[in-house]
Amino acid sequence: MIRKLKEDKITVALPKGRLFNQTISIFKDAEILSEDLNSETRKLIIESKDFYFLLVRAKDVPTYVENGIADLGVAGDDVILESCPDVYIPVDLNIGVCSIVVAGLPESKEKYFSNPTSIKVSTKYPKITQSFFAEKGIKAQIIELYGSVELAPLVGLSDFIVDIVETGRTLKENGLIVIDHIRKSSAKLIINRVSYKTNKDKVYPIIEKLHKILKKGDQ
Ligand code: PRP
Repeated sequence: MIRKLKEDKITVALPKGRLFNQTISIFKDAEILSEDLNSETRKLIIESKDFYFLLVRAKDVPTYVENGIADLGVAGDDVILESCPDVYIPVDLNIGVCSIVVAGLPESKEKYFSNPTSIKVSTKYPKITQSFFAEKGIKAQIIELYGSVELAPLVGLSDFIVDIVETGRTLKENGLIVIDHIRKSSAKLIINRVSYKTNKDKVYPIIEKLHKILKKGDQ
């Protein structure tokens, strides 16, 4: 049976994983959320007084928001650039800050800067990778992976990877280095375009509260 969510509540798509705790923390600081959510729960829909929280994979947040299942959600630039959702993006939450980079073994650096015409790259981000190398006039042969991308250059699947780097620990522990910087990424609040217009009374205060807390952090 399809679970019908009550329309008087706002539905939020929350990314499981890296961004989960930081998202809960900023929502609590902004007094949008009053209780803690357990990151270990296996439940996928959590109901609170004012909200439904849908616990989804980070990559799937834009899908739930764009299709109007969730009114709003939190997604990193990496995910947004990859899926290009038609959503409203009013707030940079300045959490989950990381860099999207080209990385590889130190000995691959020379190859990278020797003006290659084509390059083999493993990544979770095929679109970002394709457009980055297309702009450089390099043909990228992309091998799409779903995780542990750093393994690829170690075992010869590809010379290079395009991935996010947060602390740099995964690269370091696997003897890899950053070879090129693509762009910075941070998490954004994303809102369904229809909800933004029809649920103004509930959505605007959320945006305002987040702006307020973020301004405080700047001071
Ligand atoms: C991400 C990313 C890197 C790692 C970078 O992977 O793909 O592997 O985090 O973080 P660091 O610079 O702090 O080490 P994630 O943990 O999401 O797991 P995955 O490889 O299974 O996608």
